[in-house]
Amino acid sequence: MRRAAIIGWGDYTPPAVLTNTDLASVIDTNDEWIRSRSGIKERRISHVPNSDMATAAARQALASADLSAADMDLIIVATCSPDRAIPSVAAYVQRELGGLGATMDLNAACSGFVYGLSVANGMIAAGTVDKALIIGAERLSAFLDLTDRSTAVLFGDGAGAVVVEASDGPEGLLSSNLHSDGSLTEILTIRGAGTESVFDHDVPTTVDMEGREVFRNAVTRMGEGAIVAVENAGLALEDIDVLISHQANIRIIDATARRLNIDPDTVYTNIHAYGNTSAASIPIALSEALDQGAISPGDLVAMVAFGGGLTWGAAMVRWGERTTRLRRVDHELPGTDKTGLELLAARTQGLGLE
Ligand code: ACO
Repeated sequence: MRRAAIIGWGDYTPPAVLTNTDLASVIDTNDEWIRSRSGIKERRISHVPNSDMATAAARQALASADLSAADMDLIIVATCSPDRAIPSVAAYVQRELGGLGATMDLNAACSGFVYGLSVANGMIAAGTVDKALIIGAERLSAFLDLTDRSTAVLFGDGAGAVVVEASDGPEGLLSSNLHSDGSLTEILTIRGAGTESVFDHDVPTTVDMEGREVFRNAVTRMGEGAIVAVENAGLALEDIDVLISHQANIRIIDATARRLNIDPDTVYTNIHAYGNTSAASIPIALSEALDQGAISPGDLVAMVAFGGGLTWGAAMVRWGERTTRLRRVDHELPGTDKTGLELLAARTQGLGLE
C-alpha cells in the first residue's frame, strides 16, 4: 500500500531564551512552581515572523532529504499563529524556497502536525501527491498574557518540518486517527486573532485556558488515540520503540505513558528547553530525537497530540533505513542581540517590561 515515509527532517528554534527566572522578574511566579507543574525550564522567543521560522525549518528538512522545494507537490504548515489571514504561511515558505505545488495552512492547534501528516498521507495514498513538506510552526509568544500567570509560563516559539515521499515498502505512516470534540471549544481559545476582534474591540488577543480541563482531556484522549492507532496498524503498545508526544506539560506526557503502560525510556521529551510550541512541538522533538540517535532504523515511532478544539490525534510511523541527514544547510536566519524579555517587551507595553 502506498503511504507517506519520512525522508527528511529539520527544525528552527529562535536564539533568544526566556528562562523561568526571567518570567519571575515580571510576573508573580517562580522557577520551582513552573518546573514542578509543567517540566518547563525555559522557552524561546522569536525575533522573526512565523513564516521565517517555518522556512528555516523547511530548508533544513529539504537538505536532509537532498531535495528542493521544486520537488514538493504539497506544502502544509500546521499553525494557529500565522503571520496574516491571507496568504498562508505555506505560501510564504514557497515564496522563499520555490516550487509550484499546492500550499495550505492547517489549524488544529497543537494537534496540527499529526493532522498534517495524516492529510498528506491520505493524498499520497490517493495518488495525487508524491512528495510533501509538512511543517509545524508557531509564534505563540505573540499571544502571551503576562497578567495571567497560569498561561504565560507555558508557551514558546519554534518550527519543525519533515519531508515525506510515497513508499510501497514497510516504512511510513502505518495508521493514524484524528478527532475533535467541538463541545469543548471554550476551554482553550485565543479569541482576538480572528474576525471577532474586528466587530468587538474588547476581545482579548491572548490565550484563555481552563488548564485542569485541558489536562484531564489530554491524558484520556491521547491515550485512546494511541491505542486505536497501534491496533489499526496490527500492532501492540509494547511494539512502540519511541513515543513522541505533543510537548505541553511533562505531567501530561508522563500520565499518558503510564496509562498506556509504556516504558518511560521510550518517551522522548524536550519540553524543558522549549515549553509548549503547539503544532511545532512534535516535529522539533522528532528532529532532535533523530539527531541525538534516539531513533533507530525500523523503529516504530508513535506520535500523539492534543490541542485547542479540542482536537487530538495519533500516528504510528515505521521508520526506514536512514536516520541521519543527507545534507545540512548553513543558511541561517539573522540573529538577534535582544533577550527573550526584551523581545516580549516589544508587544507588552504597560506591563512594566519596557
Ligand atoms: N506560578 C505560581 N503559581 C501559579 C502559577 C504560576 N505560573 N499559575 C497558577 N498558579 C497558582 C494558582 O493561582 C493556584 O493557586 P491557588 O491554589 O492559591 O488558587 C495554584 O497555583 C494551582 O493552580 P492550578 O491551575 O490548579 O495548577 P495545576 O496544577 O492545574 O497546573 C497547569 C496548571 C500547569 C496549567 C496545568 O493545569 C496544565 O498543564 N494544564 C494543561 C495545559 C495545557 O496542556 N495547555 C496546552 C494545550 S495545547 C494547545 O492547544 C495550545
